[in-house]
Amino acid sequence: MKKRNLQELLSPNMTETERKGIALARQASCEGSVLLENNGTLPIKPCRVALFGFGARHLINTGVGSGDVSARYEIQVEDGLKQAGFEIATTAWLDTFDQIYAKHRKDLREELLKKSEETGIDCIHVWYQYSHEHIACQPILETDMPPAEAAIYVLSRKEGEGRDNAWQKGCYLPADWEVEHIRVLRERYERLIVLLNIGTVLDMQEIRKIGPDAVLAIYQGGAELGYAVADMLTGAVPPSGKLTTTWAEDYWDYSNSKVFGPQYPELMVPYSEGIYFGYRYFDSFKVKPLYAFGYGLTYTQFEFNCKAISHEKDTIRMDVSVQNAGSFKGKQTVQLYLSAPWGKLDKPAQVLCAYAKTDMLLPGESQELSLSFRLADFASYDTEEACYLLEKGAYVLRLADVSDSSRPCGVIELAENFITRKVKNVFSVPIELDEIRPERPGETTLPEDLPRISLNRDDIPWTEEPVYSEAPVNYLGRLTEEDVLLSAGEKRRMNVREDITLPDVITGKATLEELIASMTVEELIHLVTGQIYVHPVYKMNCYSQHVLGCCGETTNYFAGEEHPRKIPFLTTGDGGSGLHLIEKFQLDEKGEIIYLDPVLVFEHGAFGIDGYVDGLPYYYQYTTALPVPTQLANTWNTELTEKLGDVVGAEMERYGVDIWLAPGVNLHRNPLGGRNFEYYSEDPFLTASIASSIARGTQKHPGKGVCVKHMAANNQETNRTSHTACVSERTMREMYLRPFEWVVRDARPFSIMTSLNCVNGPHGTNSHELATSILQDEWGFDGLIMTDWNTTRKDRGASTSACIRAGMHIIMPGSENDLRLLREGLEKDSPLEKAVPLGDLQKSAMGVLRAVIRSMED
Ligand code: BGC
Repeated sequence: MKKRNLQELLSPNMTETERKGIALARQASCEGSVLLENNGTLPIKPCRVALFGFGARHLINTGVGSGDVSARYEIQVEDGLKQAGFEIATTAWLDTFDQIYAKHRKDLREELLKKSEETGIDCIHVWYQYSHEHIACQPILETDMPPAEAAIYVLSRKEGEGRDNAWQKGCYLPADWEVEHIRVLRERYERLIVLLNIGTVLDMQEIRKIGPDAVLAIYQGGAELGYAVADMLTGAVPPSGKLTTTWAEDYWDYSNSKVFGPQYPELMVPYSEGIYFGYRYFDSFKVKPLYAFGYGLTYTQFEFNCKAISHEKDTIRMDVSVQNAGSFKGKQTVQLYLSAPWGKLDKPAQVLCAYAKTDMLLPGESQELSLSFRLADFASYDTEEACYLLEKGAYVLRLADVSDSSRPCGVIELAENFITRKVKNVFSVPIELDEIRPERPGETTLPEDLPRISLNRDDIPWTEEPVYSEAPVNYLGRLTEEDVLLSAGEKRRMNVREDITLPDVITGKATLEELIASMTVEELIHLVTGQIYVHPVYKMNCYSQHVLGCCGETTNYFAGEEHPRKIPFLTTGDGGSGLHLIEKFQLDEKGEIIYLDPVLVFEHGAFGIDGYVDGLPYYYQYTTALPVPTQLANTWNTELTEKLGDVVGAEMERYGVDIWLAPGVNLHRNPLGGRNFEYYSEDPFLTASIASSIARGTQKHPGKGVCVKHMAANNQETNRTSHTACVSERTMREMYLRPFEWVVRDARPFSIMTSLNCVNGPHGTNSHELATSILQDEWGFDGLIMTDWNTTRKDRGASTSACIRAGMHIIMPGSENDLRLLREGLEKDSPLEKAVPLGDLQKSAMGVLRAVIRSMED
C-alpha cells in the first residue's frame, strides 16, 4: 500500500475529484438509461405531477454484495423533479409510504440481529439472505390521486450476490400490487410515465398490456439518479442508452430458460444453448424479442449511412455519417454487425463487431463516425482442429441502430479458409452436452452495388502456437532439486539468504528469481496467501486492517520497517459501481482502525461501523457512486467510461487502495442472473470494450490496478460455489473467455480473479486449464491471478494446494488453514491436499512480487 495522506482525509468536504466524478456519473445515468416506450409524451415540461412507487423516494442505487457502493448522498426522483421545477401533488401518499418503509427497516434490523444471535451467523451474512427482499407499497386509492398533468410511477428492484432473480411476481415479474398501481394510474391520468429502477431486465407483459405512455429504464444510476431523471424527462439531457441485453417477450423465450439457476437447481449445469444465447439466439432461431439487443428510443430521429469502407490488413474500417433528422437534440449509437459464412461450423446470424456514438447533435446537425474492427478477432473456434478459423466465403457487414433491423452495407470476401491461431483444446465437458444449432440459412441475394473487399493470406495475421506448461500431475513426492525454480533455463537450488531485498530487485542489484530463490518456504507460503486479519467484530477474515471497507490485503508478513525484505502489501477494494469503502473511521493510538459494534447500515451499503469514540478525529472516505455496470455498458460510450475509471483510480490513490476488484466481465447468460447488474452485457465484444476502457482509466494512475473477474462462466448464484458450468470448448472460447482475453490484450489489467463455481470439472480456483493453459500460456498474461474469496473454505470445495498447482498466484483472503495446508503439503502428503512442488510455490510467489513491484510504479 502506497502511503496515503491521512491529513487530507480529515476534511469531510467534497473534493474536486468527487465533484467531477458525480457529474460524470450523472451524465452516465442519462447515457445509460434506455427509453423503451414513448408515444410522444416525453420530453415533458415541468408541471404538476402525481408521483408514486417505491423508488419515488427510495431509489435502489446498486445491488447487494461486493457490487455495492456507498454514496455520500442519494438524490431521489422526487428531489430531482422538484429541483427541475415540477410540483409534486402526492406528498401525502409518499409520506405514508415513508412510514411503512421506516417501520419495515426497523423491524427487519431487529429481526436480523435476533437471527444472528440465535444462529451464531454474523449479522452481515444474515442481512445478505434478506437484503434482496422487496416491500410492498400501500394501495393507491381514489383519494390519493389528486389532479395532475401526468403521473410518474417508479418501480424498483434489487438484485445481488448470493441469490438469482426468480421467475416470480415481485422479482423478475411485476408484483400484483405494482400492476394494480399502474392500472389505476392509467385510468386516472391522461399521461402516465413508468420509470424502471432495475438491475437488468424486467418482464414487461403486464405493464405493456396496461399501456403507459412512456417507459424509461433508469436502472440503478448512481448518486444523482434523481437529478438525471429530471434531466431526461425534460429533455435537458435526453436518454441515449441502448440495451446491452435482449429483453424477451416472455422469460421462456430465452434459449437457456430451463437450464438456468433457480429453474435448474442441479449441480451440473448444462450450457446446452452453446453460443446461442442473447441476440445470437433470437436472431439465429428467428424468435422475436420484445426489445432487441441495441434497442433504445430517442426523442428525435436519426439517419445514418455508410460513406466508405476500407481496410488495412484485416482491420476493416467503415465511415458512417449520422444526421439528426428530427426536431429534438440527441445522441445516436451506430452498431456494426458481422454475418460470417457457414462452412464446417455453424455461425450466429450476426455478431456485434464495432460501434460508435455521436456527440449531442442538434436538429439538422450531422457527424462522421469511424467504426473499425479486426476480422481475425471474430474467427470461430474449430474444436476438431483446435484452432481459430475464418471460413471462406462472404462476410456481410450490417449497419444498425438496433440489432434486429440491421441492413447489409458491405461485404468482405475470403477466397479460402484461414486459421488465425492454433491452440490446444483444454476443457473436457464432464457431461453429455447436446448443444442446440440453428438451421443453415438459405442463400441470400445481396444488392449488387454493395462495396466489397477481398482479403488474402497476407492480410490475415497468424499467431504462433503457444507452448503449454505441463498440467499438474498428482505429485506425491518430496521436494527435489527439479522442483526448484528454473531461472533463465538454469536450475537453481534453494539458496536461503536474508540479505536480498525487494529494493535490490528494483534497483537491479538482484533479480526477482534470485530474491525468490533466497526465500524460505515459510516466506513463500505467506506471499501466496492473503493477509489473515480476523475482524474483531464480524469474526471473519475478509477485511483490510488498514483501509476501512476494503475486503482484503496481500500479506503484511514483510511489511514492517524492520523486516529485511521490505516487501509492502497491497489492499483490495470492491465495488462494480465505484469503490466500496466505509465513509468514516477513527484510529487508535497505534494507528489502527477502531471497531465498535456490528451494525446494519441500510441506507449506505450493507454494513458499517456503529458508534465512534468521543474526542478522536474522524477520517472521511467518500467515493463516487457510479451507475451499475449494466447501465455503464448501455452508454456505448467508452470515452465516458474511461473517464469514470479514471475517477475510481484517483479515489484509490487518495484512500490507499491498490487493487479495485472490478470490472466483472461475465456475460448475461440469462436475465435471472443475480449478479447481472455487476456485469455489462450478453455480448463479449461490448463487454470487453467497456471493461477495457474502465481498466485503462483506472490504471492511468501509476501503481493502481483493476482486477477483472470472475474467470470464468460465473453466471448464476444458485449453488453459487458448488455448481459446475458444463460448457463446450467452442462456447468457452467464443463467448465466456473472450471478454477476459480482449481486456488482457487491450488494457493489460493488473490482475484477474477466478470464479467461485466449478468450470468443466475443477473449481474455478483449482483450474490449471484457466490459470495456466489459457491465461498464462496462451494469452501471456503477466498480472496477478487471485482466487475469489474464501473458495478454499471447507464448505466451498476448492483445495488450497490445488490453487497453487493450478497456477493461481494468491489465495484470497487467506486463512490459517491455507497456511497450514500449504506447510503440510510441502512437508508431507496431507490427507486432504496433494503436495505442492516448490517450483509451483515459487512461481506463484513470483506472480505476487511482480504485482507488488508494478504497484510501486510512479
Ligand atoms: C465475490 C467477489 C468479491 C469478493 C471480495 C466474493 O464473494 O464473489 O466478487 O470481489 O467476494 O469481496
